[in-house]
Amino acid sequence: MIHVRPLSSRIGAEVHGVELDGTLRPEIVAELRKALVEFKVLFFRDQTRMTPDKHLDFGRLFGTLEAHPVATADRSELMTLRRAPDVATARANFPYGEDYWHSDVSWREHPSFGSILRAVEIPPVGGDTLWADMEAAFAGLSPQMQGALRPLRAIHDFDRAFGPGLAPEDRAAMAKRFPPVEHPVVRTNPDTGAPLLYVNEIFTTRIAGMDLRESDSLLQFLYRQATKPEYQCRFSWREGSVAFWDNRTTQHYACHDTGKGVREMHRVTISGDRPY
Ligand code: SIN
Repeated sequence: MIHVRPLSSRIGAEVHGVELDGTLRPEIVAELRKALVEFKVLFFRDQTRMTPDKHLDFGRLFGTLEAHPVATADRSELMTLRRAPDVATARANFPYGEDYWHSDVSWREHPSFGSILRAVEIPPVGGDTLWADMEAAFAGLSPQMQGALRPLRAIHDFDRAFGPGLAPEDRAAMAKRFPPVEHPVVRTNPDTGAPLLYVNEIFTTRIAGMDLRESDSLLQFLYRQATKPEYQCRFSWREGSVAFWDNRTTQHYACHDTGKGVREMHRVTISGDRPY
């Protein structure tokens, strides 16, 4: 029996009483999935015995795993996110980092269902991650604005974030494999039917069919709405901490405030469905 302790009235819960690996009983997996849908991001402490293999096996309990087409060139389903002074992100090449609010790979026709992030090395200070509840962000708008947004669709593209850092031939191959996609601005949570905002400042490039100035203004307004502190929770990592988020209903932001510290995380990502 797991114990779930909410961190706020809207988003985030700590889960106790479970060691994460691929041998969990189906009823525990079902409980975790139910808690994930309800709280959108689950946090587990002291998972010190988790290895990369256990991490992958745990992920497979929730669906098919996928590799990140850019960030894991070796096609591995285990992605390493490392930040250290010696490998400081070259902002000239990758102008957008994880310190922009985003939903992972929204530029795919089928963006991922969820991600499981494990802290491998933690800096002495900083390096928290924040999540925002996109259902709460939509619910917080006036009925008039909600009605205006419902018919709209938006274009999502990998290129603005990842294109400048790729060799020309890789960039062209990615563009062929992942052309810009259109998703609804207001997506439906497939598990609950709840509407939620589905645009993000890294990958959404414009509202389909709108004048660019109108589109930019509306998107900036929606990005502000998406990041009201009332809709967020914040997690301070410790060695052995794990976060599991519903990538369909949340956005996240990793604080780049680790100074000279090293921060290394492993991420396993579960495939998802086409937004509707
Ligand atoms: C991510 O954006 O998937 C990584 C978040 C983090 O490193 O905290």
